[in-house]
Amino acid sequence: MMAIGYQRKLIGFMPRRNILLPIICIALLVAAWTFRAPPPSIDRWLDVGAIRGGASSPTSSLHPPPPAQSHNDVDLSAPDAPFVGWPLRRVCDEAAWVQGLVFICDNNSGGVGNIRNYIHTCIRYGLEAGATGLVMPKIRKRNETDLADLFTDYLPFNYMFDEKHFKNAFAANCPQITIYDDIKDIPGVGGKPNIEHITPKKFGSREGCDFRDQNRHTDRFGDRFRGWLNDSKTGQNPPSQNHPRLIRFNWGVLWDWQTYRDGPEFANTFGSILRFNDRILRLGKTALKRMRAYAEANGVKDGRFLGVHLRTESDALGFWPTYNTQSEAYLKQATKRGFEVAYIATGDSLEAQNFAGAAIELAQMKVVTKADLLDDEDLDELDSLSWDQQGLIDLIVLLGSDYFVGAMPSSFSIYTAMKRHLRTGGLYTRPYKVGTEGDGLSYLVGNYDKYWEGWLYMWDGMWP
Ligand SMILES: *[C@@H]1O[C@H](CO)[C@@H](O)[C@H](O)[C@H]1NC(C)=O
Ligand SMILES: *[C@@H]1O[C@H](CO)[C@@H](O)[C@H](O)[C@H]1NC(C)=O
Ligand SMILES: *[C@@H]1O[C@H](CO)[C@@H](O)[C@H](O)[C@H]1NC(C)=O
Repeated sequence: MMAIGYQRKLIGFMPRRNILLPIICIALLVAAWTFRAPPPSIDRWLDVGAIRGGASSPTSSLHPPPPAQSHNDVDLSAPDAPFVGWPLRRVCDEAAWVQGLVFICDNNSGGVGNIRNYIHTCIRYGLEAGATGLVMPKIRKRNETDLADLFTDYLPFNYMFDEKHFKNAFAANCPQITIYDDIKDIPGVGGKPNIEHITPKKFGSREGCDFRDQNRHTDRFGDRFRGWLNDSKTGQNPPSQNHPRLIRFNWGVLWDWQTYRDGPEFANTFGSILRFNDRILRLGKTALKRMRAYAEANGVKDGRFLGVHLRTESDALGFWPTYNTQSEAYLKQATKRGFEVAYIATGDSLEAQNFAGAAIELAQMKVVTKADLLDDEDLDELDSLSWDQQGLIDLIVLLGSDYFVGAMPSSFSIYTAMKRHLRTGGLYTRPYKVGTEGDGLSYLVGNYDKYWEGWLYMWDGMWP
């Protein structure tokens, strides 16, 4: 209890459902603000022009600055946080653009943690390569009867994400790039597009590196790649406006780019080119509101609740923490931190019941799922979503929880912890201290002994 109260103060966390008080505070502070020296670069940080619904943005930059932390006034851990575009613009301003070079980032599969990273990694390389064209990313649908089969149909981007938001982010900050809805829309592409497959790590000497090691040559990638494009040995002409070259990655390029090489501003904002679509956001926020109400109805002050990601579904890999390891660790945290209610995210309702039984017995903690919280049309809407889309509803609730427990090396858990970690320093949040309880917001159970075999490198290659 004590620890959480302190942590809330520390990070300035404010429950989003209560907006009256913040509005009054803002009004008072706007008055106070005029007598202060102007804060350094606050407009530059917030990038008022790039915020959705721009008109209201100037006031939102006038929150009370915590001492010497004026950048910390927007909660970047919110799933619908404003997109801060200037770090992207800076990367685009520095890029070496190549007319006719188009990146196709369409083989994006798995759960949302992997899908996000496939898309981000591919686009980040595209920016470095100087691609002036990008084909709208697609998502591979998972087979609902065989969850480990990740490669069925190609679904449109809006299966999970907000297409308009994505396009606006590039139009506003990276106008050098044209986004094509489809390969056939690329000028000069012809009837039978020739798509070249590459593996970006191959553009560098990697002697002595583990094959899973990130690309230590991202700084050199652009020049080397453009050299290759121009090399007649590929049997192709250099790209040009009317003779495009189309690039797709071989499968499996993820956790490949060391995100912090671009600085925290970019590392902490680029991920938000992908925002969940409005339908997902609405349902997720409804579930979160219901969760708080459920906690309050159970006499919990401020509706505090523990967020739990139990990762034991049929596609979980053999070496991941077992049900017993996960539930034991989670209940230990629940007891230690005095939680009386918890939200459980799992795609396996039987395991949810098992955990709920154990939680009542061992920690006197009540546990609910999204299906328990939603009703009527909301429940119908939830039922109409696919397994992975339903996972996004879980994710939104977990992001809003007061403490989060998950499992290594689930990219879903890692993403949740990294996104929550943005509460600690806003735009300038420094990397999460992997394998510790250091930020007071999340704990992931798992094996942290080995960087490669424990997949710890995922933390270094993810954009929250
Ligand atoms: C999904 O998996 C099931 C069981 O393995 C299989 O029968 C079915 O054909 C698969 N569906 C698709 C669309 O691949
Ligand atoms: C590639 O060739 C084009 C002309 O075909 C030239 O303008 C460009 O500078 C070359 N780039 C590199 C990296 O050699
Ligand atoms: C997409 O990834 C799968 C998984 O390895 C692979 O079998 C397939 O060839 C890839 N498709 C394309 C078009 O690259």
